[in-house]
Amino acid sequence: MVYSEAKVIAGGLAHIPIVIGVFYFIMTFFNKRALKFAEANKSKKPEAKKVVDTKTESKPIDAVKTEAPKVVKKKHADVPVNIYRPKTPFIGTVTGNYSLLKEGAIGRVNHITFDLKDSDPFLNYVEGQSIGIMPAGEDANGKPHKLRLYSIASTRHGDDFNGNTVSLCVRQLQYEKDGETINGVCSTYLCDIKPGDKVKITGPVGKEMLLPEEEDANIVMLATGTGIAPMRAYLRRMFEATEKEKNNWNFKGKAWLFMGAPKSANLLYEEDLQKYLENYPENFKYTKAISREQQNAKGGRMYIQDRVLESANELFNMIEDEKTHIYLCGLKGMEPGIDEAMTKAAQEKGLNWSELRPQLKKAGRWHVETY
Ligand code: FAD
Ligand code: A2P
Repeated sequence: MVYSEAKVIAGGLAHIPIVIGVFYFIMTFFNKRALKFAEANKSKKPEAKKVVDTKTESKPIDAVKTEAPKVVKKKHADVPVNIYRPKTPFIGTVTGNYSLLKEGAIGRVNHITFDLKDSDPFLNYVEGQSIGIMPAGEDANGKPHKLRLYSIASTRHGDDFNGNTVSLCVRQLQYEKDGETINGVCSTYLCDIKPGDKVKITGPVGKEMLLPEEEDANIVMLATGTGIAPMRAYLRRMFEATEKEKNNWNFKGKAWLFMGAPKSANLLYEEDLQKYLENYPENFKYTKAISREQQNAKGGRMYIQDRVLESANELFNMIEDEKTHIYLCGLKGMEPGIDEAMTKAAQEKGLNWSELRPQLKKAGRWHVETY
């Protein structure tokens, strides 16, 4: 047989797709095997080793500063989430709705409780989570209103300790626009609802603000306004007599609440907090920043970050202890102020807050929920 040069070239070219195909097949085969191998090795890594062992001795913060942190955030796999979603919310019944404010207070802040008894599956939750509320009515486009999140203010046992209610602490949003007072849709709906009313509830959601399980943990709480909601649940879990009988959790650490409110009349859950101070003076500390009645060192409004600075030494002595967790909840606007105060407070102890904060976060000891 005689082959022309052109025929040989054409024949060679015709094989190129076959060679590419074979090459692609081999690459895919080995890639898949490599992926499977990596996955198999990943799942063999013991998770338990990563979990914080808070029972170990506390470590000075300088050590944390120079070494890579050994403690890694605890996993909370067993915490309930999204039992009810917006398409199929639970319809809860309002059992109570009352004002938390005293005469002369600014605005409107209510404590609202819903009955969860008839939820199936049962809408259970733990302290530090939030639920979603879908206000009745429609938005400007004729669509149902979207849900709004609210921090849960009750413990998992509920305010009546029967384990079938959830409570919220809601501030009505009000602002002025073009000479008109605008009321927030959901917060106004919630502040106005009456016992017996039906409300669409979703959730629970959130794992950021959960309490550690250790009874000897220290809990620092920085709250403004309704940011007290999750802290109220923590403090009930720690110090409320019937709740303690129910939860079998014997808190032995230190709890320190920094609370920001515009006026004394705006302080929330004040009677309960005073009772805890009386009953647990060794375990509970309560520092208030009443912005429109007290002044900071510069003569301005007293904010919680000013109180943080005043207590820098004591606070950072606590943070040096691995058992200490810090929770920040309330106005988003307070974050830069808190950061600045922590930076200054850390400097006084020769520490670098911008290095320390991510380490605390990674160790699951810095918890933030602002809105
Ligand atoms: P909307 O009708 O939705 O109005 C809000 C909108 O109004 C804003 O998006 C903004 O566009 C506009 N607006 C607001 N202020 C101004 C202003 N000054 N000037 C001009 N425009 C403005 N709230 C609580 O009360 N208690 C809680 O415990 C709580 N927990 C929360 C937890 C989480 C995780 C999150 C994300 C939020 C939480 N909130 C809480 C806030 C809550 O979800 C709502 O955002 C809040 O109640 C306002 O909703 P609304 O429907 O009343 O306001
Ligand atoms: P003020 O409003 O006097 O400036 P409430 O939600 O009940 O209004 O309470 C919020 C509290 O947080 C108020 O005392 C408010 O003070 C205060 N606050 C407002 N802005 C900040 C901020 N950037 N940092 C810390 N606290 C703040």
